[in-house]
Amino acid sequence: MGKVFHIASIPGDGIGPEVVKEGFKVLQEIEDQDGSFRFESREFPWGCEYYHKYGKMMDDDGITQLKTFDAIYLGAVGYPGVPDHISLWDLLLKIRKSFDQYVNIRPIKLLEGAESPLLPAYHDIDMLVIRENSEGEYAGAGDRLFQGTPDEVALQTGVFSRKGTERIIRYAFEEANASGKSVTSISKGNALNYSMVFWDEVFQEVSEEYPHINTYSYLVDAASMFFVTDPSRFEVVVTSNLFGDILTDLGAGLTGGLGLAAGANINPTREYPSMFEPIHGSAPDIAGKQKANPLAAIWSVSQMLDFFGEEEWGTKVLKAVEKTMTDGDVLTPDMGGTATTAEVGTKVVECLKQMK
Ligand code: NAI
Ligand code: MG
Repeated sequence: MGKVFHIASIPGDGIGPEVVKEGFKVLQEIEDQDGSFRFESREFPWGCEYYHKYGKMMDDDGITQLKTFDAIYLGAVGYPGVPDHISLWDLLLKIRKSFDQYVNIRPIKLLEGAESPLLPAYHDIDMLVIRENSEGEYAGAGDRLFQGTPDEVALQTGVFSRKGTERIIRYAFEEANASGKSVTSISKGNALNYSMVFWDEVFQEVSEEYPHINTYSYLVDAASMFFVTDPSRFEVVVTSNLFGDILTDLGAGLTGGLGLAAGANINPTREYPSMFEPIHGSAPDIAGKQKANPLAAIWSVSQMLDFFGEEEWGTKVLKAVEKTMTDGDVLTPDMGGTATTAEVGTKVVECLKQMK
């Protein structure tokens, strides 16, 4: 047994634990088949239930506890009874920020066997959205003044640093450089006359370092329309925290729904662990019923394997997800099937076995 990959597991709330369990099934199968590495995982019981018991979303020294792991595998956080801004800020955003996971990679790709509401008109949806993940509109800068009075004012300030803007745009260019693709910047320089004018300037500057790469620039409103009417024009897309959050859910809708959308929170320097998670939430409406689609969480496992340098396995896992969908006999209700979460996880494992 050679390498050991240390994974911190935070199943979280609602359907989180149900889908994470299936992700680990897949990791176990890979470990059994490969033999050259193994995974060691530790589970952390943090989330809204924890909050109800202890008045906090995670341990006070939670960040220190997570620091030594290679990766974090997260289900979903948030549940009725705990205000969403608390569950999000005190766990998910705390991890993203403390570990400087400034890149959020979200593949918007129509996998084989997946259904798009745009079909049959469009088959060619294959973009990589690189979302700024550490500042921008989600910097948490602001105030509530004169609360509860008629003069009440809420301020939420976007923070766009040169360092933060430059590094995310450069990351996108490096991705495009490696894959021979174009880069599209999505911003809003007409209305956001400070932050986004700055963003556009930095995009222009960085693009000059990569003269061989084709670039495009869109306003976010027009880009939203083109996501739907002509998605094939986008390859590598770089955008701000808020715009990326919204556009990738739109992208998820175009490529099979939230049950099939993954996202990686990357700290490119590898000084701290990176975090892998499906982009959906805790889905209280279907939680505990084994109705959740685990394919998004399993796609996150594929991203984690790529990050570990085990790209061959990353590709295989994605192929097994595609095979599960093209076979079509074991799918959850969101994909028109009747199978349980666990049955779909087992199906993916079977597909991996067949690919041996
Ligand atoms: P949601 O993603 O939990 O659910 C939206 C809709 O999609 C629901 O109808 C749900 O049943 C369905 N859905 C989501 N994932 C699915 C899956 N794997 N299989 C089948 N159907 C699925 O978003 P919602 O309802 O806005 O938020 C619920 C809670 O989750 C809130 O507390 C919110 O703050 C939190 N949340 C957490 C996120 C995270 O942990 N990264 C991301 C988004 C929301
Ligand atoms: Mg979101």
